[in-house]
Amino acid sequence: MSADDTTQTAAPAAANAMWGGRFERGPDAIMQAINASIGFDQRLYAQDIAGSRAHAAMLAAQGILTSKDAEAIREGLLTVLSEIEAGNFEFRVEQEDIHMAVESRLTEIIGEAGKRLHTGRSRNDQVAVDFRLWVRAQCDAAIAGLTALMQAFVAQAEAGADWVMPGFTHLQTAQPVTWGHHMMAYVEMLARDRSRFEDARRRMNECPLGAAALAGTSFPIDRHATAAALGFDRPTANSLDSVSDRDFALEFLSASAICAMHLSRFAEELVIWSSAQFRFVRLSDKWTTGSSIMPQKKNPDAAELLRAKMGRILGATVALFTVMKGLPLTYSKDMQEDKEQVFDAADTLMLGLAAMTGMVSDMQAVTGNLRAAAASGFSTATDLADWLVRELGLPFREAHHVTGTLVGMAEKRGCDLPELSLEDMQSVYAGIRADIFDVLGVDNSVNSRKSYGGTSPDQVRVQIARWKAVLA
Ligand code: ARG
Repeated sequence: MSADDTTQTAAPAAANAMWGGRFERGPDAIMQAINASIGFDQRLYAQDIAGSRAHAAMLAAQGILTSKDAEAIREGLLTVLSEIEAGNFEFRVEQEDIHMAVESRLTEIIGEAGKRLHTGRSRNDQVAVDFRLWVRAQCDAAIAGLTALMQAFVAQAEAGADWVMPGFTHLQTAQPVTWGHHMMAYVEMLARDRSRFEDARRRMNECPLGAAALAGTSFPIDRHATAAALGFDRPTANSLDSVSDRDFALEFLSASAICAMHLSRFAEELVIWSSAQFRFVRLSDKWTTGSSIMPQKKNPDAAELLRAKMGRILGATVALFTVMKGLPLTYSKDMQEDKEQVFDAADTLMLGLAAMTGMVSDMQAVTGNLRAAAASGFSTATDLADWLVRELGLPFREAHHVTGTLVGMAEKRGCDLPELSLEDMQSVYAGIRADIFDVLGVDNSVNSRKSYGGTSPDQVRVQIARWKAVLA
């Protein structure tokens, strides 16, 4: 017997109660599996019910529903909500998605009136409004998570505004900087991340409900009322755009990807800094793991995973761009693929922000090692060159050359610049005086960089005070 015979002899599944009027039989089981979103979009239940409540109240206010029906719908939706929240709700694949699951349960509970809820709307505007509400809440969560992380970085900066450490370019020692300055660099990055979520939230805060399937509706609905009831600034202005737009999700994903990239960069620094070769920081036991074979190990797993999770969030971003880029207006079922990507990216980002906040709060700088590393690698060579320019009037290029010669001399002797004698220095450039040694110390070096936004502890404290006021 072939598979086809089986299908013919099996009793045909009943046509879908919501849209099956013109269908003689239900979908194949595999069709159901590929088509249904209930497995994941049940996460939108609260938004779906909120949207339906606003819609029903508006229909009644406009005289499209009787107040009796609207009241039954209101109470029925609250019952559905409490069933879902209590875990007493059975999500069934035949119902396809959260919209039909809620509506069919509502109708089971309240009867006829439940069938009137879908007047003047479509699942196309319904999913658009549900998903916007969900993504909007995630923007708020990301903003709160970023604020907490910024506060953790500010606290580190405040503790070590004048701790000296090496600043790197190309991961080669460049110039001494302060710990506080390095911490505050992340505050700047995270502040931009936060403002990206704020911008995205502001732009997405328009309500697509009432666009119906794509063209609007002939019922005298009040879209301003539903928009206000759901906390939107206004209704969207074009019904075609309303049901086909997923920019808001793409903006959320893009902002998440940039933010995750920042988290990944600091994670990378933590991996390097906590290594036995650097020993710049000690990570707390809470954010590290041991090795089952090497007893000495304390591995920065949380940092490593944060570094890796950026790939996952960027993957979700690329996936949704790829889904959207070829779709003609308006809604296409392809768009159902938006949700899992956004859910996963949002969960990953929130977990990452929380983990990073914990690690930053608990990490301990090893100030002695930071200072020793800052002093090695000829880190004050630029200070020496600047002294030659400032005190002796040498053109910078010439000062650079003299300094380079002195670095070469120190390297051959296996010492650092301050360990060269005045005679050594004068053998390279006769005009050098003893007070050059004043600028070769790391504290001198960082204290001298007082330009706005520079690494001097004074400048760093100015920025700390500014951010503390903003974050308070
Ligand atoms: N489950 C669908 C989605 O997530 C809801 C909208 C379905 N609309 C439709 N016309 N089939 O996109």
